[in-house]
Amino acid sequence: MIVTTFPWHWVGILGMPRRMAYYDYSNAALEPMALSVSISVVGAFILVISAILFFVVLLEGQRAPRENAGPYRFAVAVHPPIRLPEVKAAGLWDAICSAAGIARKATSTSPVTPDFKISSVVVTPQMLSIADTQSIGRGATLAHQCAICHGPAGFSRADAPNLSGQFAGAIYKQLKDFQSGARSNAIMTPFAAKLTDQDMIDVASYYAYLPRLPEDRAGQADAAPRIVLNGAPLRNIPPCGSCHGSIDHKIGSPWLQGQPAAYIKAQLQAFARDERNNDISQQMRNIARHMTPHEIDVAVRYYSSLSQPARSTGH
Ligand code: HEC
Ligand code: HEC
Repeated sequence: MIVTTFPWHWVGILGMPRRMAYYDYSNAALEPMALSVSISVVGAFILVISAILFFVVLLEGQRAPRENAGPYRFAVAVHPPIRLPEVKAAGLWDAICSAAGIARKATSTSPVTPDFKISSVVVTPQMLSIADTQSIGRGATLAHQCAICHGPAGFSRADAPNLSGQFAGAIYKQLKDFQSGARSNAIMTPFAAKLTDQDMIDVASYYAYLPRLPEDRAGQADAAPRIVLNGAPLRNIPPCGSCHGSIDHKIGSPWLQGQPAAYIKAQLQAFARDERNNDISQQMRNIARHMTPHEIDVAVRYYSSLSQPARSTGH
């Protein structure tokens, strides 16, 4: 037996729930209808809920975007948001289609171009992995002009980044980016501008060949802070060490240990503020933006306090 009632007492009409329909399935004549009645009751219930959702959630949800149509015409996945002029105000039909998962026409036929230069360097695991001795020799000569800031042995005393033992691919990429304008710095840009592609390969091979600082603080490795060892998964921050060395090395990520504190901090802040945007696929910008000032300080203190351990093999 199935009984459907409407809660009339809620609307205060008759004071108590009344049966709207009463099917006595012990009655042999009604029994075959049992299944279809049950299905239609459930169906009606779903329809009523969908109608409420449609009017309350969907239509209400549309009101705000219409009023603020401007901001919604940005591709918000990129930061800072890039204006997409051809995107129309999010309409009701668009909303229904996207809610139903129907793909819509591309909003723009031309590729979106950011208003800053992006890195054109393609980093590969093989990049400069095999050092050529002639290249290292030429690099040593070229490096004389860099010594004033980066130090005669590649260790800076002037808060410029250390280059000794840095991965050749990382040095080459940064020099290319300084030259193309993807990374800009008033001091470095003019130096990179003068270098040919071969010069960059040579100087990168030379610095990568120089030894890192000897490991004289072995005990410090245990004190790696949480952000370096575990990252902050809830904010999508992978462990720094998974790319920068102590846990694993991802191609293109510079060796950080022993870099001057001022340099590391300035770079993290520049990534966070989009002032440095040459990192491929926003790897570092996405991380730095979500770091708290405390995490930045902790990471800076850790990396700058570590002398660079001896060169690991294989890089
Ligand atoms: C007058 C000082 C000065 C000279 C000379 C100089 N640099 Fe630099 N270099 C800097 C500074 C400062 C930075 C950090 C730039 C920044 O903060 O973005 C830097 C950054 C770099 C970086 C990026 C390092 C990293 O870890 O991202 C590379 C690579 C580099 N320099 C290579 C060179 C080479 C090669 C030469 C010689 C041809 C050279 N520099 C000459 C001051 C100098
Ligand atoms: C997914 C890999 C990845 C992770 C995780 C990562 N980084 Fe990076 N980081 C990179 C790459 C790649 C670059 C080089 C960007 C470029 O091409 O200019 C970089 C660059 C940097 C630089 C600039 C170094 C220089 O010499 O120019 C700093 C500082 C830095 N990262 C700090 C951190 C810190 C601190 C963390 C942890 C909170 C972290 N990174 C986590 C990939 C990573």
